[in-house]
Amino acid sequence: MTKKLTVPDIMAMKVRGEKITMMTAYDYPTGLLVEKAGIDTILVGDSLGMTVLGYNSTVPVTVDEMIHHTKAVRRGARNTFIVADMPFGSYNAGIPQAIANASRFLKEGGADAVKLEGGTEMADVVEAAVKAGIPVLGHIGLTPQTVTQLGGYKVQGRDEEKAKKLVEDALALSRAGAFAVVLECIPKNLAKEITERIPIPTIGIGAGPFCDGQVLVYNDVVGLFEKFTPKFVKRYAELGEAALKGLMKYNQEVKEGTFPDAEHSFD
Ligand code: KIV
Repeated sequence: MTKKLTVPDIMAMKVRGEKITMMTAYDYPTGLLVEKAGIDTILVGDSLGMTVLGYNSTVPVTVDEMIHHTKAVRRGARNTFIVADMPFGSYNAGIPQAIANASRFLKEGGADAVKLEGGTEMADVVEAAVKAGIPVLGHIGLTPQTVTQLGGYKVQGRDEEKAKKLVEDALALSRAGAFAVVLECIPKNLAKEITERIPIPTIGIGAGPFCDGQVLVYNDVVGLFEKFTPKFVKRYAELGEAALKGLMKYNQEVKEGTFPDAEHSFD
């Protein structure tokens, strides 16, 4: 069994030039699988709102729902560094609200850290959380909780002014004490510049190969989410197809009376 990573371990990986892997997980069996695969860190992302709860966006997800799923993932992945996503509205009403909610993820959910979206404007919240002993992963670029304000799921930081703002955001999060920052859906050379300019690791999703680490959504990676597949997703398995085939066969065999057979019955 490998040793569970700590915040300094993750930060030291950047210094050594060792890539950091992160995968989302939302339940006990996926926690088990991701840990068994040897992936460095798990994100209990609020993407679960869309991938497992069937909402149209991440906005309706609540703190209680996130904690429920974080606890399940922790039961499956007892030895992996887990980051839990703070959902929309749970950290934007001031520092006391943010700290109270963030603490619940560590105390009740069993998470090691929380993630929240936003750059410069969130730096005071990040700083307060870190001072309160709560490790924080930042998230800039395409921030799904504010996708309507951003004009949809599209690449961010394409023009010079917006690129400059993203560099400032990353620097502000780093200064505020975030231990790493997710860069979502930005041009690869901008991700490279940010990665070179900040001392903390960058974890990319749709941000090219120059980030210090990568994260993807489990359901996208294993073929369990069909609604839409962004260009940056690579499918490594087709579990959805395999499950459908199995379920159809079961349905057929019960209907025609070939299941249960002697092998699956008691004398
Ligand atoms: O909720 C999530 O899964 C995320 C990743 C896309 C980074 O925030």
